[in-house]
Formats: sequence, C-alpha cells, structure tokens
Amino acid sequence: MKKTITIIACLVFVAIVIFPALTSAQEQKPVLLPTPQMDGGKPLMQVLKTRSTSREFSEEKLSMQVLSNLLWAAFGINRPDSGKRTAPSALNWQEIDIYVATADALYLYDAAKNALNIVMPEDIRAYTGKQGFVKIAPVNLVFVANLSKVTTKNENDKILYTASDTGFISQNVYLFCASEGLATVVRGYIDKPALEKKMGLRPDQKVILSQTVGYPKK
Ligand SMILES: Cc1cc2nc3c(=O)[nH]c(=O)nc-3n(C[C@H](O)[C@H](O)[C@H](O)COP(=O)(O)O)c2cc1C
Repeated sequence: MKKTITIIACLVFVAIVIFPALTSAQEQKPVLLPTPQMDGGKPLMQVLKTRSTSREFSEEKLSMQVLSNLLWAAFGINRPDSGKRTAPSALNWQEIDIYVATADALYLYDAAKNALNIVMPEDIRAYTGKQGFVKIAPVNLVFVANLSKVTTKNENDKILYTASDTGFISQNVYLFCASEGLATVVRGYIDKPALEKKMGLRPDQKVILSQTVGYPKK
C-alpha cells in the first residue's frame, strides 16, 4: 500500500512539475528560419517605381521562407566576415532589434543565428498599433532601440540616430514588399507605453516604430 502511494506521488510530481517544465523549455527553443534567398527579386528601379504604403491586408500567413527573406532584407547580416547588416547604423551600433508579432507568438529576430527567439507565446498584434488592420495582418514588426548599445550621451542625438537607423530598416522592408507583391505600412500611431509594457521591455529599450506586412486584401 505504502509503495503504491509512493508511485502515485511520483507520477503526480512528474505530471505537475517535470512535464510542464519540459514542455515550456521546448516552447522557448528558437525557431530556426530557412536560409534567406538572396538571388531573387525585381530590379531596383522597378521596385522603386512601385514602393508604396498600403493599409488593406489579407489574413493569409507568410511562409517561413518569405519571413526569413523579409527579415534578412530588413536587417540581416550581408557581410558575414564583419557581421555588418543590410541597413546602416550610426557608429555600427546595430541598436535596433526587430520583434515579430504574429498570431502564434511574439518573437525576436536573431540575425546572427537566422532564428526567431520566442519572447512570449501570445498574439500581441493588437497592441502594436491603434489601427484596426494590425489585429488581422499576419506580421507586425516592432522596431525597438536597445539604448544600452547607444554610446552617445546627447539625448537629441539618441533620438535622431535611433530614428534614422529605424528608417533605413523600414525602407528595406518597403523595398522587399514592393519586390514581392506584399502590402506594408510603417507606423508611429502606437500606444508605446502600453506596447512596451506588454512586450516586457527593459527601461533601456524603446519602441521606435512598427511596420505591418502581409498580402494585399483581395
Ligand atoms: C515615420 C512614419 C510614421 C508613419 N506612421 C503611420 C501610422 O501610424 N499609420 C499609418 O497608417 N501610416 C503611417 N505612415 C505612413 C505614411 O502615412 C505614408 O508613408 C505616407 O502617407 C506616404 O505614402 P507612401 O508611403 O505610399 O508614399 C508613417 C510613415 C512614416 C515615415
């Protein structure tokens, strides 16, 4: 009888303590992205001819390949020897992090590993902006400045450089979308304190802009 109780207690312990811990550890594993395809796309001048803002999105998801290509175009590593990126940054700070809000989770793009780190397994798209389409579009990128990488002490320069560096990334996203027939809009109309709180950002992390990406509404 005593032995049976001990076995039951062990099973209960495994079910309540160990199994959920293992499951949540598995959930936290980064999602490896497919290798970005760097040989496609339309010629630059044609892309510039069609670059535009659109606010009408279909709910259709982006494939992992398209997401990988998008993130690489946005701010991926294009010179592996130096670790430099597809967009410039002041003093090569590389201080802008790209968070990716989808229906499945909030991720953080890791350019070096070409992976998405899971920040939270929750759909926070609605928090990424005050416009209705953010909830239904498949991807909302959130550009977050990591001020711990910003070495200037001048507060005006901090604002100027983090905003400029975000602009370059955003334009890369615009150009990629124009090339791929995707719709996109960069956005500043965001309740930033609410979003920063929801994302669990540190005081030295600031949301600069967000950018919605998806297929055009048919
Ligand atoms: C810094 C910045 C912030 C913007 N914020 C918003 C926004 O919050 N919501 C929105 O719908 N569009 C936003 N836009 C998009 C502009 O409205 C759009 O770029 C402009 O109307 C010109 O259109 P075009 O991009 O098609 O040339 C923003 C653009 C920039 C550059």
